Amino acid sequence: MQTFAEKAMNNTVTELTDAGYKAIGVKANVAVNAEVEHMIDQAIEKFGRVDILVNNAGVGDNMQSAANVQDDTWNRVMSINLSGVMYTIRKIIPHFQDIGGGTIVNMASITGLTGGRGGLAYTAVKHAVVGMTKNVASHYGPHNIRCNAIAPAQVQTGFASSMENTDSFGMEAATRGTNLMPKSGTVDDIANIALFFATEDSAYVNGATLAADAGWSAY
Ligand SMILES: NC(=O)c1ccc[n+]([C@@H]2O[C@H](COP(=O)([O-])OP(=O)(O)OC[C@H]3O[C@@H](n4cnc5c(N)ncnc54)[C@H](O)[C@@H]3O)[C@@H](O)[C@H]2O)c1
Repeated sequence: MQTFAEKAMNNTVTELTDAGYKAIGVKANVAVNAEVEHMIDQAIEKFGRVDILVNNAGVGDNMQSAANVQDDTWNRVMSINLSGVMYTIRKIIPHFQDIGGGTIVNMASITGLTGGRGGLAYTAVKHAVVGMTKNVASHYGPHNIRCNAIAPAQVQTGFASSMENTDSFGMEAATRGTNLMPKSGTVDDIANIALFFATEDSAYVNGATLAADAGWSAY
């Protein structure tokens, strides 16, 4: 039986092929290096080259504050949201160098730019994604490789509903001030930024993390 994620992947492939594009879906757990390598090898084999890498996969930490962090939550968040991003970037860079360049878009979070908007693990990991974004941009910019990140505040996806056994102390602390957020974002709001970073429209931008929060963090 197909999992929810496999169904979503297959629906996306159908949507793209119906619209006249070539698309394949490759199932991969980004926390497992061999699966990431296989996914990228498949893309290169099928299309001859890969020009854009978007690191979007990510999980939350059920808002666990420092005193309540559970080891399994910490390890899961680190392996998916951090090691997963490192595995894909490590694999794609030599290919980008071979073809003369490429672009990487990392999905950070407003939690990666602020202190109190999530649990401890999620805040730490998204700060790390912001740091990795700058490091890759700095080291590989001269190789025509750009790496930028998006820092959304609140977007209606499956993310919030995937929380379970939420830490009530962490949740109360992390949602302080949410009444100052003018509005939530849409999936299209974020996709448009990804498109901007992925293409030559952002040719002179490298190492940036763009807050997508309707000005919430500017307050
Ligand atoms: N929704 C928000 O408000 C929000 C805000 C800031 C940042 N983000 C970030 O946006 C990204 C996308 O999240 P979303 O909001 O679409 O949530 P979502 O839960 O709807 O989607 C997460 C996706 O990640 C995939 N995924 C999870 N674990 C994986 C693994 N081990 N290997 C491969 N894929 C895996 C899931 O299958 C799913 O497609 C995440 O990195 C998240 O941290 C979301």
